Amino acid sequence: MAEQPLADVIVLFGGTGDLAQKMLFPSLYFLDADGFLAEGFGVVATARAEMTREAFVEQTRAAVAARAGEAGLDPKAWARFEKRLSYVGADGTTQAGAEQLKAAIGGAKAPMYFLAVSPSIYGRVCAALDAAGMTGPGARIVLEKPVGRDLESSKAINAEVAKAFPEESIFRIDHYLGKETVQNLLALRFANTLFEPLWNNLTIDHVQITVAETEGVGERWPYYDEYGALRDMVQNHMLQLLCLVAMEPPSDMEPDSVRNEKVKVLRSLRPVTRADVQTVSVRGQYTPGVVAGKAADGYEAERGQATNTETFVALRADIDNWRWAGVPFFLRTGKRLPERRTQIAIQFKPVPHSIFEGAAEADLVANRLVIDLQPDEDIELLLMNKAPGLSERGMRLQSLPLSLSLAKAYSGPNSRRRIAYERLILDVIQNNSTLFVRRDEVERAWEWIDGVADAWRESGMAPKPYAAGSWGPAGAFALIERSGRAWYD
Ligand code: BG6
Repeated sequence: MAEQPLADVIVLFGGTGDLAQKMLFPSLYFLDADGFLAEGFGVVATARAEMTREAFVEQTRAAVAARAGEAGLDPKAWARFEKRLSYVGADGTTQAGAEQLKAAIGGAKAPMYFLAVSPSIYGRVCAALDAAGMTGPGARIVLEKPVGRDLESSKAINAEVAKAFPEESIFRIDHYLGKETVQNLLALRFANTLFEPLWNNLTIDHVQITVAETEGVGERWPYYDEYGALRDMVQNHMLQLLCLVAMEPPSDMEPDSVRNEKVKVLRSLRPVTRADVQTVSVRGQYTPGVVAGKAADGYEAERGQATNTETFVALRADIDNWRWAGVPFFLRTGKRLPERRTQIAIQFKPVPHSIFEGAAEADLVANRLVIDLQPDEDIELLLMNKAPGLSERGMRLQSLPLSLSLAKAYSGPNSRRRIAYERLILDVIQNNSTLFVRRDEVERAWEWIDGVADAWRESGMAPKPYAAGSWGPAGAFALIERSGRAWYD
């Protein structure tokens, strides 16, 4: 890791696209404003459209300003950042296009190529870069998800990319790994003595992971309809969260130490089969409803025709290893749910024996650790307390949170919430791949997801309707209640 030089230029393929404008340029600007980009670090955007540099700079300035919000752009920081920008109108899938880029990056020794384009052209872009002699040592490539639509297509893309770049120069992004609270999971688990001894099936009853969004699919349907919630969210973000909760302590933070542990978790996931798919999974699709007081269309109206794509998934995942035997992980994600919430809840088992009687015993509930990732970053440990005061019915107990609000703990002038891509881009510059997804990891995740998708197809499981603004189809409640548990809504 340390032997590689710092990247000295970033080439953004898809430079006029949504991801680049909404996330990548703002991230680069903030990194620059905070002094993380070396002098001379170049930012080259490329896309097919011909555009003058002025027009491109203006478009980018507007995008960065929109992201900066009320704080606005710092004129000095923008002036410095703007000088780094250049634009190349080229077809990056051809050698001629790559040659144009080569001229634009001049003598850069450690270019990083960020592919914010359709995965269907990853192979051709890599081949063009290779043919133009731009893939030598020092060069690195960043791939956005989805890397494939199933195991087979993922392997094909990975194989094409591998012809041009060695695995250690390939950075597969899962932007959830760039989120502060996701990294905080590592700190919570491995920088405290408190939790790790309890982090197993002797003490933990089950785990819930919820990624709920209020947004619908909207204009993104041409992409989304081909993928659905299982491939769009579970294959990557949710399985990454599951891995970070479930993995064994890595020996250090080196990329392979962490990734080896994640792969072991993925390999231990019990395959979902046709025989049990109806009991361990639920598919849903939103119909018209009301979200946050506003009428919302159903997915079919957005899509313009009937479709078999799910916009909601709930799953029971079992990890067949010593630590987690008998501890189900319940996952659910969906669009058009009542609130935006990304949350991990670790439910502990009840105390082995209650010394309390009557009301107090009835009040007794088991501890729970709730990690909120979005919209707020909070960690709460629900503990039992004696409710203050006197009661004719003896002592009363009450569950109260021991609460850590990260926003409050870290409030102050420099407390801007960073875009996940800032961390990730900086890591690529520094050639640190701990927070990136290794090839075998992405392929193991697809293997498990393919099992679910195949079982759905073989058993003819169509998505069940749910009204926009509800917590998914009734089956999602049955899925968890079958085991005597309930979602924390
Ligand atoms: C993306 C998915 O990877 O993650 C989107 O393609 C989803 O469908 C998004 O909305 C959620 O990301 P975040 O950071 O808003 O939780």
